[in-house]
Amino acid sequence: MLHLATAGESHGPALVGILTGLPAGLSLDREAIDADLARRQQGYGRSPRQRIEQDRAEILAGLRHGRTLGTPLAIVVANRDHENWRWGMSPWPPEGEPEGKGTQPVTLPRPGHADLAGTLKYGHEDVRNTLERASARQTAMTVAAGAVCKALVGEIGVEVAGSVADMGDVDAAKADRDTVGGVVEVRATGVPPGLGSYATRGSRLDARLAAALMGIQAVKGVEIGAGFELAGLRGSEAHDEILPGLRRETNRAGGIEGGVSNGEDVVVRAAMKPLPTLMRPLRSVDLETGEAGEALVERSDVAAVEALSVVAEASVAFELARAAREKFGGDSVDDFKAAHRAYLERIPWQPR
Ligand SMILES: Cc1cc2nc3c(=O)[nH]c(=O)nc-3n(C[C@H](O)[C@H](O)[C@H](O)COP(=O)(O)O)c2cc1C
Repeated sequence: MLHLATAGESHGPALVGILTGLPAGLSLDREAIDADLARRQQGYGRSPRQRIEQDRAEILAGLRHGRTLGTPLAIVVANRDHENWRWGMSPWPPEGEPEGKGTQPVTLPRPGHADLAGTLKYGHEDVRNTLERASARQTAMTVAAGAVCKALVGEIGVEVAGSVADMGDVDAAKADRDTVGGVVEVRATGVPPGLGSYATRGSRLDARLAAALMGIQAVKGVEIGAGFELAGLRGSEAHDEILPGLRRETNRAGGIEGGVSNGEDVVVRAAMKPLPTLMRPLRSVDLETGEAGEALVERSDVAAVEALSVVAEASVAFELARAAREKFGGDSVDDFKAAHRAYLERIPWQPR
Protein backbone atom coordinates (compact mmCIF):
# COMPACT_ATOMS: atom_id res chain seq x y z
CA MET A 1 0.00 0.00 0.00
CA LEU A 2 1.39 3.36 -1.04
CA HIS A 3 1.77 5.62 1.99
CA LEU A 4 3.37 9.01 2.58
CA ALA A 5 4.45 10.10 6.07
CA THR A 6 5.72 13.66 6.42
CA ALA A 7 7.20 16.01 9.01
CA GLY A 8 8.60 19.49 8.97
CA GLU A 9 7.93 23.05 10.07
CA SER A 10 7.81 25.97 7.67
CA HIS A 11 11.01 27.61 8.98
CA GLY A 12 12.58 24.52 10.58
CA PRO A 13 15.67 22.87 9.10
CA ALA A 14 13.83 20.75 6.50
CA LEU A 15 10.72 18.96 5.30
CA VAL A 16 10.98 15.19 5.54
CA GLY A 17 8.93 12.56 3.72
CA ILE A 18 8.94 8.77 3.67
CA LEU A 19 7.09 7.20 0.76
CA THR A 20 6.49 3.48 1.19
CA GLY A 21 4.87 0.97 -1.16
CA LEU A 22 6.73 1.79 -4.37
CA PRO A 23 7.74 -1.12 -6.59
CA ALA A 24 11.42 -1.76 -7.33
CA GLY A 25 12.96 -0.67 -10.62
CA LEU A 26 11.07 2.59 -11.13
CA SER A 27 13.32 5.16 -12.83
CA LEU A 28 13.16 8.57 -11.22
CA ASP A 29 14.30 11.80 -12.82
CA ARG A 30 15.84 14.26 -10.38
CA GLU A 31 15.18 17.17 -12.72
CA ALA A 32 11.51 16.28 -13.12
CA ILE A 33 11.01 16.29 -9.34
CA ASP A 34 12.82 19.61 -8.93
CA ALA A 35 10.92 21.08 -11.90
CA ASP A 36 7.63 20.35 -10.13
CA LEU A 37 9.00 21.93 -6.94
CA ALA A 38 9.91 25.01 -8.99
CA ARG A 39 6.43 25.10 -10.58
CA ARG A 40 4.91 25.16 -7.08
CA GLN A 41 7.06 28.15 -6.18
CA GLN A 42 6.29 30.16 -9.27
CA GLY A 43 3.08 31.70 -10.46
CA TYR A 44 1.30 34.95 -10.35
CA GLY A 45 0.97 36.66 -6.98
CA ARG A 46 3.65 34.80 -5.04
CA SER A 47 5.97 36.41 -2.48
CA PRO A 48 9.78 36.81 -2.37
CA ARG A 49 9.97 33.82 -0.01
CA GLN A 50 9.58 31.60 -3.03
CA ARG A 51 12.75 33.08 -4.51
CA ILE A 52 14.66 32.40 -1.30
CA GLU A 53 13.66 28.76 -1.15
CA GLN A 54 14.47 27.33 -4.63
CA ASP A 55 13.48 23.89 -3.47
CA ARG A 56 15.42 20.75 -4.29
CA ALA A 57 14.48 17.21 -3.30
CA GLU A 58 17.28 15.18 -1.80
CA ILE A 59 16.77 11.42 -1.75
CA LEU A 60 18.43 9.69 1.20
CA ALA A 61 17.15 6.13 0.88
CA GLY A 62 15.19 3.76 -1.34
CA LEU A 63 16.96 4.77 -4.55
CA ARG A 64 20.14 3.50 -6.18
CA HIS A 65 21.55 4.98 -9.36
CA GLY A 66 18.19 6.57 -10.11
CA ARG A 67 16.04 3.46 -9.70
CA THR A 68 13.84 2.57 -6.76
CA LEU A 69 14.81 -0.39 -4.62
CA GLY A 70 11.30 -1.29 -3.48
CA THR A 71 12.25 0.00 -0.04
CA PRO A 72 11.02 3.18 1.70
CA LEU A 73 11.96 6.28 -0.28
CA ALA A 74 13.28 8.98 2.06
CA ILE A 75 12.93 12.52 0.72
CA VAL A 76 14.30 15.71 2.27
CA VAL A 77 13.53 19.24 1.08
CA ALA A 78 15.70 21.71 2.99
CA ASN A 79 14.20 25.02 4.13
CA ARG A 80 16.88 27.42 2.91
CA ASP A 81 15.13 30.23 4.80
CA HIS A 82 15.97 28.35 8.04
CA GLU A 83 19.30 30.18 7.94
CA ASN A 84 17.39 33.30 9.09
CA TRP A 85 15.51 31.40 11.79
CA ARG A 86 18.34 29.35 13.28
CA TRP A 87 17.79 30.61 16.81
CA GLY A 88 14.00 31.07 16.56
CA MET A 89 13.31 27.62 15.11
CA SER A 90 16.13 25.64 16.71
CA PRO A 91 14.84 22.13 17.49
CA TRP A 92 16.92 22.08 20.69
CA PRO A 93 17.12 24.92 23.22
CA PRO A 94 19.07 27.56 21.27
CA GLU A 95 22.55 28.58 22.30
CA GLY A 96 23.78 32.16 22.39
CA GLU A 97 21.88 35.42 22.21
CA PRO A 98 18.56 35.55 20.34
CA GLU A 99 19.13 36.58 16.75
CA GLY A 100 17.34 36.44 13.42
CA LYS A 101 13.62 35.85 13.05
CA GLY A 102 11.12 34.11 15.32
CA THR A 103 12.70 35.22 18.59
CA GLN A 104 9.57 36.97 19.92
CA PRO A 105 6.40 34.99 20.65
CA VAL A 106 3.43 35.62 18.31
CA THR A 107 0.29 36.41 20.32
CA LEU A 108 -2.01 37.87 17.63
CA PRO A 109 -3.64 34.99 15.73
CA ARG A 110 -4.52 35.52 12.04
CA PRO A 111 -8.18 34.90 11.16
CA GLY A 112 -8.52 32.22 8.50
CA HIS A 113 -5.43 30.37 9.68
CA ALA A 114 -5.11 27.55 12.21
CA ASP A 115 -3.51 30.14 14.55
CA LEU A 116 -6.32 30.56 17.09
CA ALA A 117 -7.91 27.11 17.06
CA GLY A 118 -4.55 25.30 16.98
CA THR A 119 -3.07 27.39 19.78
CA LEU A 120 -6.10 26.82 22.03
CA LYS A 121 -6.14 23.12 21.17
CA TYR A 122 -2.47 22.38 21.92
CA GLY A 123 -2.02 24.87 24.76
CA HIS A 124 0.80 26.72 22.99
CA GLU A 125 2.02 30.02 24.40
CA ASP A 126 3.45 31.12 21.07
CA VAL A 127 1.13 31.05 18.04
CA ARG A 128 4.23 30.24 15.99
CA ASN A 129 4.12 26.72 17.45
CA THR A 130 0.84 26.30 15.54
CA LEU A 131 1.46 28.22 12.35
CA GLU A 132 4.79 26.64 11.50
CA ARG A 133 3.30 23.24 10.72
CA ALA A 134 -0.13 24.49 9.63
CA SER A 135 1.57 26.54 6.89
CA ALA A 136 1.27 25.39 3.29
CA ARG A 137 5.05 25.10 3.17
CA GLN A 138 4.51 21.39 3.73
CA THR A 139 2.89 21.14 0.29
CA ALA A 140 6.44 21.10 -1.11
CA MET A 141 6.68 17.51 0.15
CA THR A 142 3.29 16.68 -1.37
CA VAL A 143 4.70 17.89 -4.69
CA ALA A 144 7.97 15.95 -4.38
CA ALA A 145 6.10 12.71 -3.58
CA GLY A 146 3.56 13.50 -6.29
CA ALA A 147 6.34 13.75 -8.88
CA VAL A 148 7.43 10.22 -7.91
CA CYS A 149 3.81 9.04 -8.20
CA LYS A 150 3.48 10.64 -11.64
CA ALA A 151 6.52 8.62 -12.74
CA LEU A 152 4.85 5.45 -11.43
CA VAL A 153 1.46 5.95 -13.09
CA GLY A 154 3.27 7.15 -16.21
CA GLU A 155 4.51 3.55 -16.56
CA ILE A 156 0.91 2.51 -17.29
CA GLY A 157 0.17 5.47 -19.54
CA VAL A 158 -1.56 7.73 -17.01
CA GLU A 159 -0.80 11.44 -17.22
CA VAL A 160 -1.90 13.95 -14.61
CA ALA A 161 -2.00 17.71 -15.20
CA GLY A 162 -3.26 20.57 -13.04
CA SER A 163 -4.25 24.00 -14.31
CA VAL A 164 -5.92 27.20 -13.13
CA ALA A 165 -9.60 27.32 -14.09
CA ASP A 166 -10.46 30.65 -12.48
CA MET A 167 -8.65 33.25 -10.40
CA GLY A 168 -9.40 36.65 -8.89
CA ASP A 169 -7.68 39.83 -10.12
CA VAL A 170 -4.22 39.74 -8.52
CA ASP A 171 -3.09 43.22 -9.65
CA ALA A 172 -6.10 44.95 -8.18
CA ALA A 173 -5.89 42.94 -4.95
CA LYS A 174 -2.19 43.71 -4.58
CA ALA A 175 -2.83 47.43 -4.95
CA ASP A 176 -5.40 47.14 -2.13
CA ARG A 177 -2.99 45.02 -0.04
CA ASP A 178 -5.60 42.29 -0.27
CA THR A 179 -5.63 38.65 -1.45
CA VAL A 180 -7.61 36.47 -3.87
CA GLY A 181 -8.53 32.82 -4.36
CA GLY A 182 -9.60 30.79 -7.36
CA VAL A 183 -10.41 27.39 -8.82
CA VAL A 184 -8.01 24.72 -10.09
CA GLU A 185 -8.69 21.70 -12.27
CA VAL A 186 -6.78 18.45 -12.44
CA ARG A 187 -7.25 16.10 -15.38
CA ALA A 188 -5.82 12.59 -15.54
CA THR A 189 -5.75 10.85 -18.92
CA GLY A 190 -5.14 7.17 -19.65
CA VAL A 191 -6.76 6.05 -16.39
CA PRO A 192 -8.04 2.49 -16.90
CA PRO A 193 -11.53 1.55 -15.72
CA GLY A 194 -11.47 -0.13 -12.32
CA LEU A 195 -9.42 2.07 -9.98
CA GLY A 196 -11.14 2.45 -6.62
CA SER A 197 -14.15 0.46 -5.52
CA TYR A 198 -17.83 0.81 -4.67
CA ALA A 199 -17.40 -1.82 -1.94
CA THR A 200 -16.80 0.54 1.00
CA ARG A 201 -16.99 4.31 1.31
CA GLY A 202 -13.27 4.50 2.10
CA SER A 203 -12.33 2.69 -1.08
CA ARG A 204 -14.30 4.96 -3.43
CA LEU A 205 -11.92 6.80 -5.76
CA ASP A 206 -14.04 9.97 -5.67
CA ALA A 207 -13.99 9.98 -1.86
CA ARG A 208 -10.23 9.52 -1.83
CA LEU A 209 -9.63 12.29 -4.35
CA ALA A 210 -11.92 14.64 -2.46
CA ALA A 211 -10.15 13.90 0.82
CA ALA A 212 -6.76 14.40 -0.81
CA LEU A 213 -7.77 17.78 -2.24
CA MET A 214 -9.55 18.92 0.93
CA GLY A 215 -6.33 17.98 2.73
CA ILE A 216 -4.58 20.89 1.03
CA GLN A 217 -4.53 24.20 2.90
CA ALA A 218 -7.13 26.77 1.77
CA VAL A 219 -9.18 24.29 -0.32
CA LYS A 220 -12.82 24.79 0.65
CA GLY A 221 -14.69 22.85 -2.06
CA VAL A 222 -14.13 19.93 -4.40
CA GLU A 223 -16.08 18.84 -7.47
CA ILE A 224 -15.80 15.61 -9.41
CA GLY A 225 -16.76 16.16 -13.06
CA ALA A 226 -19.70 18.53 -13.39
CA GLY A 227 -20.09 18.38 -9.60
CA PHE A 228 -22.50 20.97 -8.19
CA GLU A 229 -23.90 21.74 -11.63
CA LEU A 230 -25.32 18.19 -11.78
CA ALA A 231 -27.72 19.00 -8.96
CA GLY A 232 -29.65 21.34 -11.26
CA LEU A 233 -29.82 19.09 -14.32
CA ARG A 234 -32.30 16.43 -15.37
CA GLY A 235 -31.12 12.83 -15.47
CA SER A 236 -31.33 12.84 -19.24
CA GLU A 237 -28.84 15.74 -19.31
CA ALA A 238 -26.59 14.66 -16.48
CA HIS A 239 -25.30 11.21 -17.37
CA ASP A 240 -22.83 9.96 -19.92
CA GLU A 241 -24.39 7.41 -22.27
CA ILE A 242 -22.35 4.30 -23.03
CA LEU A 243 -21.40 3.94 -26.71
CA PRO A 244 -19.78 1.08 -28.65
CA GLY A 245 -16.16 0.60 -27.58
CA LEU A 246 -17.42 1.42 -24.06
CA ARG A 247 -16.60 5.11 -24.58
CA ARG A 248 -18.70 8.19 -23.83
CA GLU A 249 -19.51 11.31 -25.77
CA THR A 250 -19.71 13.36 -22.58
CA ASN A 251 -17.84 13.14 -19.27
CA ARG A 252 -20.04 14.83 -16.70
CA ALA A 253 -19.16 12.11 -14.20
CA GLY A 254 -15.52 13.20 -14.32
CA GLY A 255 -14.39 9.67 -15.14
CA ILE A 256 -15.76 8.08 -11.98
CA GLU A 257 -19.03 6.15 -11.49
CA GLY A 258 -19.91 4.33 -8.28
CA GLY A 259 -16.56 5.31 -6.83
CA VAL A 260 -14.72 3.45 -9.63
CA SER A 261 -12.81 4.97 -12.56
CA ASN A 262 -14.77 4.26 -15.76
CA GLY A 263 -12.05 4.75 -18.38
CA GLU A 264 -12.77 8.38 -19.22
CA ASP A 265 -10.48 11.20 -18.07
CA VAL A 266 -10.62 11.74 -14.33
CA VAL A 267 -11.51 15.42 -13.85
CA VAL A 268 -11.61 17.13 -10.46
CA ARG A 269 -11.77 20.76 -9.41
CA ALA A 270 -10.88 22.46 -6.15
CA ALA A 271 -11.94 25.89 -4.89
CA MET A 272 -9.35 27.92 -2.99
CA LYS A 273 -10.34 30.67 -0.58
CA PRO A 274 -8.46 34.01 -0.64
CA LEU A 275 -5.22 33.70 1.32
CA PRO A 276 -5.87 34.67 4.93
CA THR A 277 -2.69 36.66 5.65
CA LEU A 278 -3.30 40.18 4.44
CA MET A 279 -0.74 42.96 4.21
CA ARG A 280 -3.63 45.07 5.52
CA PRO A 281 -4.19 42.92 8.58
CA LEU A 282 -7.59 41.73 9.79
CA ARG A 283 -8.80 42.37 13.32
CA SER A 284 -7.69 39.99 16.02
CA VAL A 285 -7.23 39.74 19.79
CA ASP A 286 -3.95 39.51 21.67
CA LEU A 287 -4.02 36.14 23.42
CA GLU A 288 -1.72 37.39 26.17
CA THR A 289 -3.52 40.62 27.09
CA GLY A 290 -7.04 39.95 25.76
CA GLU A 291 -6.92 43.31 24.00
CA ALA A 292 -8.11 44.02 20.49
CA GLY A 293 -5.37 44.30 17.89
CA GLU A 294 -4.36 43.48 14.36
CA ALA A 295 -3.32 40.04 13.18
CA LEU A 296 0.31 39.15 12.63
CA VAL A 297 1.60 40.05 9.18
CA GLU A 298 3.80 37.13 8.16
CA ARG A 299 5.37 37.50 4.71
CA SER A 300 2.67 36.24 2.41
CA ASP A 301 1.42 35.88 -1.15
CA VAL A 302 -1.44 37.74 -2.85
CA ALA A 303 -2.57 34.50 -4.52
CA ALA A 304 -1.36 30.93 -4.67
CA VAL A 305 -3.83 29.49 -7.18
CA GLU A 306 -1.15 28.45 -9.67
CA ALA A 307 0.80 26.85 -6.85
CA LEU A 308 -2.36 25.05 -5.76
CA SER A 309 -2.77 23.62 -9.27
CA VAL A 310 0.64 21.96 -8.87
CA VAL A 311 -0.13 20.69 -5.36
CA ALA A 312 -3.55 19.41 -6.49
CA GLU A 313 -1.94 17.65 -9.46
CA ALA A 314 0.51 15.95 -7.07
CA SER A 315 -2.29 14.97 -4.68
CA VAL A 316 -4.34 13.42 -7.49
CA ALA A 317 -1.24 11.63 -8.80
CA PHE A 318 -0.66 10.18 -5.34
CA GLU A 319 -4.24 8.89 -5.04
CA LEU A 320 -4.23 7.42 -8.56
CA ALA A 321 -0.87 5.77 -7.87
CA ARG A 322 -2.23 4.35 -4.60
CA ALA A 323 -5.33 2.99 -6.34
CA ALA A 324 -3.21 1.60 -9.20
CA ARG A 325 -0.90 -0.16 -6.70
CA GLU A 326 -3.98 -1.76 -5.13
CA LYS A 327 -5.28 -2.90 -8.51
CA PHE A 328 -2.07 -4.08 -10.14
CA GLY A 329 0.31 -4.80 -7.22
CA GLY A 330 3.76 -6.12 -8.09
CA ASP A 331 7.11 -6.04 -6.33
CA SER A 332 8.83 -4.65 -9.39
CA VAL A 333 7.67 -2.09 -11.90
CA ASP A 334 7.74 -4.84 -14.56
CA ASP A 335 5.28 -6.93 -12.49
CA PHE A 336 3.09 -3.84 -12.08
CA LYS A 337 3.07 -3.18 -15.84
CA ALA A 338 2.50 -6.85 -16.69
CA ALA A 339 -0.59 -6.94 -14.44
CA HIS A 340 -1.90 -3.78 -16.11
CA ARG A 341 -1.29 -5.29 -19.56
CA ALA A 342 -3.02 -8.57 -18.65
CA TYR A 343 -6.01 -6.63 -17.32
CA LEU A 344 -6.33 -4.60 -20.52
CA GLU A 345 -6.25 -7.86 -22.48
CA ARG A 346 -9.16 -9.15 -20.38
CA ILE A 347 -11.46 -6.11 -20.69
CA PRO A 348 -13.03 -4.78 -23.90
CA TRP A 349 -11.59 -1.29 -23.36
CA GLN A 350 -8.45 0.27 -24.76
CA PRO A 351 -6.71 3.53 -23.91
CA ARG A 352 -7.37 6.24 -26.50
C1 LIG B 1 0.31 26.46 -2.15
C2 LIG B 1 -0.30 27.27 -1.06
C3 LIG B 1 0.30 28.46 -0.67
C4 LIG B 1 -0.27 29.23 0.33
N1 LIG B 1 0.34 30.40 0.67
C5 LIG B 1 -0.25 31.18 1.62
C6 LIG B 1 0.29 32.45 1.93
O1 LIG B 1 1.31 32.89 1.38
N2 LIG B 1 -0.34 33.19 2.87
C7 LIG B 1 -1.47 32.77 3.49
O2 LIG B 1 -2.01 33.48 4.32
N3 LIG B 1 -2.01 31.56 3.23
C8 LIG B 1 -1.42 30.76 2.31
N4 LIG B 1 -1.99 29.55 2.02
C9 LIG B 1 -3.23 29.16 2.70
C10 LIG B 1 -3.07 28.80 4.14
O3 LIG B 1 -2.01 27.88 4.31
C11 LIG B 1 -4.36 28.20 4.71
O4 LIG B 1 -5.43 29.01 4.38
C12 LIG B 1 -4.28 28.08 6.21
O5 LIG B 1 -3.29 27.11 6.54
C13 LIG B 1 -5.59 27.67 6.90
O6 LIG B 1 -6.07 26.46 6.41
P1 LIG B 1 -7.52 26.37 5.79
O7 LIG B 1 -7.63 27.52 4.84
O8 LIG B 1 -7.52 25.05 5.07
O9 LIG B 1 -8.51 26.46 6.88
C14 LIG B 1 -1.45 28.78 0.99
C15 LIG B 1 -2.04 27.59 0.59
C16 LIG B 1 -1.49 26.84 -0.43
C17 LIG B 1 -2.14 25.56 -0.86
